[in-house]
Amino acid sequence: MRLSGFDIDHFLRHHWQKAPLLIRNPWGDWHNPLEPDELAGLACDENVESRLVIGADAARKMENGPFPESRFGKLGTGPWTLLVQAVDHHVPDIADLIEPFRFVPDWRIDDVMVSYATDGGGVGSHYDQYDVFLVQGLGRRRWRVGPRCDAQTPLLPHTDLRLIADFEAADEWVLEPGDILYVPPGFAHDGVAVGDDCMTYSVGFRAPSRAELVEGWSEHQAERMAEDDRYADPDLVQQAQPGEITPAALDRLHGLVTDALSDRAAFARWFGEYNSLPKYDSDWRPEQPVGAQAVAAQLAQGVPLVRNPAARFAFIRQGDGALVLFADGQSFDCAGDTAVLAEQLCAGRSVTVDHPASEAVLTLIAALIDQGSLAFDDEDD
Ligand code: SIN
Ligand code: CO
Repeated sequence: MRLSGFDIDHFLRHHWQKAPLLIRNPWGDWHNPLEPDELAGLACDENVESRLVIGADAARKMENGPFPESRFGKLGTGPWTLLVQAVDHHVPDIADLIEPFRFVPDWRIDDVMVSYATDGGGVGSHYDQYDVFLVQGLGRRRWRVGPRCDAQTPLLPHTDLRLIADFEAADEWVLEPGDILYVPPGFAHDGVAVGDDCMTYSVGFRAPSRAELVEGWSEHQAERMAEDDRYADPDLVQQAQPGEITPAALDRLHGLVTDALSDRAAFARWFGEYNSLPKYDSDWRPEQPVGAQAVAAQLAQGVPLVRNPAARFAFIRQGDGALVLFADGQSFDCAGDTAVLAEQLCAGRSVTVDHPASEAVLTLIAALIDQGSLAFDDEDD
C-alpha cells in the first residue's frame, strides 16, 4: 500500500515533528477497514484498552472499558465517542494501515487507536506528546489544529481529560474518508464528528522521554553492580574545612556515575530490549516448548512464519554482518544465516524460511515461537 502523490522526503523535511499537514485521500480506492460493530466488540474485551467519552465541551465524561455489550445501547442520542487502543494487535487489516508510514522506523511506531463517534462527538481540544497520522475511515470529522502548546498552556480543570482552555485554532479542515491529517507532538487539535458513524484511525508514534531513558538505563546498570563497587579514597589527605565536599571528591563521585552509564554497547542492548517490550499481554505462547525438530518439520512443509502483531521486532547491526535481534524484551545474537533471518523477520509480518535450515536458525525460530513473538501460519490451527 503506497500513498499516491505523497512525497516522503518533502514530508520529512518540512512537516515531520515540525508542522501539521492535511493529505487529501492518497489511497486511491479507500475502504473503511473495520466495522463499528467490530470496534464495539473489541471494547468489550478485557484484554483491550478502551474509553468512552460522553458529551461535548468541558462537561464531557470519561469511562474506561471493558464495557458490557449493553452499555452501547444506553448511550442515548447525544454526542459520544468510543476509543480503542492498539487495534492493530487484533485486526490484521488495521496493522496494514501502518505499512505506508514505515518511512518512520518501526521502533518509533506505537500502535493504531481507533475511534467511533456520533454527531458532535470527540475527545475535545488537547495536545499529545507524540506524532500522529489521523486517517479518516468512515464519515466526516472537522479538525481544528494548532498552535503548538507546552506545559504552560492553560488547561480546563477536568479530572480525566487534559482539555486546552480558550483553544483558538490556526487551521480548520473537514476530513472525508481516506483523508489524513498529520499532527506533530505538542500541536493542539480538536476533532468533532460531522454526522454519525465517524471513524478515525490514529497511527501513533512514540518517543522515549529523557526521564524514562535515564531511569531505565541507570536502574539496569545499578542492578549489575557489586556492593563493594563504591567510592574509595586511599589517597585521602587532610583538608582545611572538614565540612567541605571538595572538587576532587566530587570529580571522583561524578566519575563513578558517568563511567557506569557511558558504556554505549551495553546501552544499545539495553535500549533494544527495553524498546521491544510489549505494551499489552498477548496469548501466542504455546503451552509446550516447540523444539527444533517440530520447527524443522513445519519448514519442510513450507509453512510460513507469521509475527505476532503485538510483538515489537527491531535489530542493531554489530559489524561483520552480525546483528542483535530484539523481540518482546529479549535479545538474540545473530550472524550468518540467523542474521539474514532476523532482517527478514524485521522487514515484514510473514516469512517463509528455506528448508533445510541450520540448527542455529531452528533454535532461533523455536525461541521466538516459545516466547509468543512468532508462530507458524498453519491453516489447521
Ligand atoms: C479521535 O480519534 O477522536 C482522537 C484522536 C486524537 O486526537 O489523537
Ligand atoms: Co490527540
